[in-house]
Amino acid sequence: MSFPVHRPRRLRQSPAVRRLARETHLVPSQLVLPLFVREGITEPADISSMPGVRQHTLDSLRAAVTDAAAAGVGGVMLFGVPAERDAIGSGADDPRGILNVATAAVAEEVGDALVVQTDLCLDEFTDHGHCGVLDARGRVDNDETLVRYAAMGLAQARAGSTMLGLSGMMDGQIGYVRDALDAEGFIDTILLAYSAKYAGAFYGPFREAVDSQLTGDRRTYQLDAGNGREGVREALLDVEEGADIVMVKPALPYLDVLAEVRASVDVPVWAYQVSGEYAMVEAAAAKGWIDRRGAAMESLLGIRRAGADAILTYWAVEAAGWLREDLVR
Ligand code: PBG
Repeated sequence: MSFPVHRPRRLRQSPAVRRLARETHLVPSQLVLPLFVREGITEPADISSMPGVRQHTLDSLRAAVTDAAAAGVGGVMLFGVPAERDAIGSGADDPRGILNVATAAVAEEVGDALVVQTDLCLDEFTDHGHCGVLDARGRVDNDETLVRYAAMGLAQARAGSTMLGLSGMMDGQIGYVRDALDAEGFIDTILLAYSAKYAGAFYGPFREAVDSQLTGDRRTYQLDAGNGREGVREALLDVEEGADIVMVKPALPYLDVLAEVRASVDVPVWAYQVSGEYAMVEAAAAKGWIDRRGAAMESLLGIRRAGADAILTYWAVEAAGWLREDLVR
């Protein structure tokens, strides 16, 4: 009988050895909490498809960001839900628009304790729910949309956003917004490019979170689920245009793209664990079918292992607490 020569189990024999042998670590500062603020409500509103996530009032938003800072998370990503919408998303670049008002409030409150980030996309502000403006035939007009993104980006920078999350998937958006910011002196405003953003079912609960008006889909601008190389190409183009950070989204169904992008660029690579990924675990856990904390932390660690330097996740604050508990255990 021949005994094993190699015994990888040695490094798994105890919690202490496993902790020392672990390759990938997650810390609270690598987590970013997405937050929704809704215009015209006096009490926070639950989002039924995202248990534990709420549409905030300005006051409850301030409190949520303060909690996130206390938990040590790296940043917050703000989304606005306006009371009124129109064809060009006028609320997006109006300094009195809900997202810009909220950004100013939050930046003033906790601007030094974490990084205040804003979603730069028109879909929350248009009455048709698309990420851009439409041409006469009802198609999303790429280049006219860039003009709107530049105005929106400037409004967010003026309101005090440190990092703009360009999530609209228009061609040339990074270069166009960079030029507009630089021309106005906003040379330090960071651009986070949602470079490889895939069209599909995993944004479903988010549509409820922002009361989306969309009929149809986003397949003429977001990527097709079958295309990995194209995701890498988009990231490379964004780096060339001046992206400071590139992102892959959703996360779990696209870990291969994440790993490829990580190997292909020399800027930070982030991932967005989106609403549908969150809802799947929450729903299964509510039924008692899956261990909530275990599944959440395993997926976050998996996203890190695949190459994400930071992760946007609705569990950010709770996960930061779990990470602290693990440290003292
Ligand atoms: C665009 C945007 C979306 C998400 C983030 N930014 C919606 C979309 O593209 O359909 C989705 C995030 C999530 O599902 O958690 N404003």
